[in-house]
Amino acid sequence: MRIYCEKDYDAMSRRAASVIAAQVVSKPDCVLGLATGSSPVGTYQQLIKWYEQGDLSFREVRSVNLDEYYGLAPDHDQSYRYFMQTNLFDHVDILPENTSVPDGLAKDPAAEGARYEQVAAGLGYADLQLLGMGRNGHIGFNEPCDHFPLATHLVDLTESTIEANARFFASADDVPRQALTMGIGTIMRARKILVVVSGADKADAVWKAFRGPITPDVPASILQLHPDVTLVGDESALAKLTEDKG
Ligand code: GLP
Repeated sequence: MRIYCEKDYDAMSRRAASVIAAQVVSKPDCVLGLATGSSPVGTYQQLIKWYEQGDLSFREVRSVNLDEYYGLAPDHDQSYRYFMQTNLFDHVDILPENTSVPDGLAKDPAAEGARYEQVAAGLGYADLQLLGMGRNGHIGFNEPCDHFPLATHLVDLTESTIEANARFFASADDVPRQALTMGIGTIMRARKILVVVSGADKADAVWKAFRGPITPDVPASILQLHPDVTLVGDESALAKLTEDKG
C-alpha cells in the first residue's frame, strides 16, 4: 500500500487528483469508480481545473458511482446523482451516457441492485475506485455488519451514519434510512483503489481499517487484502498511522 500524508485538505485533494489524472492519461477510456461525500470534493475541483486548462479530458471515461440514497430522486439536492452533476460531471467533458449512479427511485431495490451490478460487471469493473471512508469505517454505504456483502444491494443506514450525514439535510429526520450501495465484492474487483481521508474524526477509523484486524465490523479493513491501494490523507486523519511507524 502507498500512503501519502499531506499537510492539509487542499494538498490531499491535489495528490488524490494526480492519481486519478495519471489513470485517465494512461488509459483515456478507463472506468472510474467515483465517490461522494465531503472528502472527494476538493479532488473533483482539482480535476475540473486541469480540464479547464486543457490538461485533462474525460471524453472517453466511463464512470460508476458507489452508491445512492434510496428514495431520493436524481434531482434532489442531496442525491448522489445531483452531487456528481454539480461537483464534477457538469464541469467536465464526460458524456452523460457514460456515467452511472444507482436509481434511488427504483421500485424494486433488489432488482436495481442486480441491474447495477450488471452495469459494473459490463464495464469490467473499475480501473480505479475512489473511496472516502465513514467514521465507522464504512465504504460506499457498506455499514459495519457480520459479513462482507458481495454485490450491489439495499442497506439500512446506521444511526452513526445518519447522524454524520444529517449536516447536509434540514434535520436528521430528513436523512434517508436506506441506500443502494456497491458491495464489498464490487469494490474489491477494482484494479486500483484510492482512499481519501481528512480530519481528526477519521483517525480512529483509518487506524482500524489499515492496522486493525480484517473484520466486517470495520468494512474498510478488507482493503488490506487488495493488492493496489493508495491512501491519501491529511496529517490529522493519518495521525495514528504515522505515530505507529516508530
Ligand atoms: C457517505 C458516503 C461514503 C463516504 C462517507 C464519508 O456515507 N456514502 O461514500 O465515504 O459518507 O463522507 P465524508 O467524506 O463527508 O466524511
